[in-house]
Amino acid sequence: MGHSKQLIDKLEKTSKLTEEEWISLIENRSQDTAEYLFERARKWQQTYYGKRIYTRGLIEFTNYCRNDCYYCGIRRSNRNAQRYRLTEEQILECCQIGYELGFRTFVLQGGEDAWFTQERLEEIVHAIRVNYEDCAITLSFGERSKESYRRLFEAGANRYLLRHETADEAHYASLHPAQLSAAHRKQCLWNLKEIGYQTGTGFMVGSPGQTAAHLARDMMFIRELEPHMVGIGPFVPHHDTPFAKEMGGSVELTLFMIGLLRLMLPKLLLPATTALGTIDPQGREKGILAGANVVMPNLSPTSVRKKYELYDNKICTGDEAAECRACLNRRMENIGYELVIDRGDVK
Ligand code: 5AD
Ligand code: FES
Repeated sequence: MGHSKQLIDKLEKTSKLTEEEWISLIENRSQDTAEYLFERARKWQQTYYGKRIYTRGLIEFTNYCRNDCYYCGIRRSNRNAQRYRLTEEQILECCQIGYELGFRTFVLQGGEDAWFTQERLEEIVHAIRVNYEDCAITLSFGERSKESYRRLFEAGANRYLLRHETADEAHYASLHPAQLSAAHRKQCLWNLKEIGYQTGTGFMVGSPGQTAAHLARDMMFIRELEPHMVGIGPFVPHHDTPFAKEMGGSVELTLFMIGLLRLMLPKLLLPATTALGTIDPQGREKGILAGANVVMPNLSPTSVRKKYELYDNKICTGDEAAECRACLNRRMENIGYELVIDRGDVK
């Protein structure tokens, strides 16, 4: 405990650790160090955000994807996935329902689907922009050219989420087919920042082959990138992927990494993710108490919810948007926090 505590204090003071220190902190963690960490993490969470939890309305607008990531349920090779695309009208309807429920950020998330051409995407972003002037538009549909990102920004998008998944080149290669690389993904993130997007990255915790050294490099990459948001969740196996029989990530390690992220970048927007809520019925509450300050419930029509299945047993696939909002309201109030009606910009 002594040495770990010192490392936590050092992280809090300097926001930097060496690779060896990160590894030691992660490998030697205990319940005691975790409690100490979460206390510090909540202090910073409340310094910047109080007990106000931001929400984003997630609209999963297509589950077609040209990629074949080994962990993901909507990978191209999964013949059992029932594919769907929302129309522009359906997307705008989700926004309308969301707006009435108090959402002021919409996240358009989808696979890398060529049917949504640059023109169609710009058209959708523009339509949301003119209809919802006071809302932030967040995009999350993978790797694109810098020019494409720039034009979408000019059409009215404000934020982009692109998890780097793992910062280690070799580990990245073990999770993805050869066409995809950690280097290209990181380049996309630098491009997004340069254009002016509020940028989110992130990684899975407990993905196959992941070591403490990999997590150390994730932390160091995030420190360097200085994103506005970092989404992390446990890896959860999906039955129709090459990783069906692999072990999933743990709640315990995910929470520890959330605490470390809050201490390293205290103003960070940190979601308590759906994957965390999937492997533990109290996962999102625990995430908030470890330092997270954002939740991202689903606004997609219930008719398609079950089809956007990145991993097994995903929660909320049968619930209407209003039910999720009410459910999260209650959950946050139970632990002394409140959901707010706010764009939820970084402080
Ligand atoms: N388990 C957990 N998270 C997953 N993601 C994709 N597949 C899985 C899985 N099996 C995450 C990835 C991706 C985000 C949208 O969902 O990190 O970036
Ligand atoms: Fe969807 Fe609880 S958040 S039902």
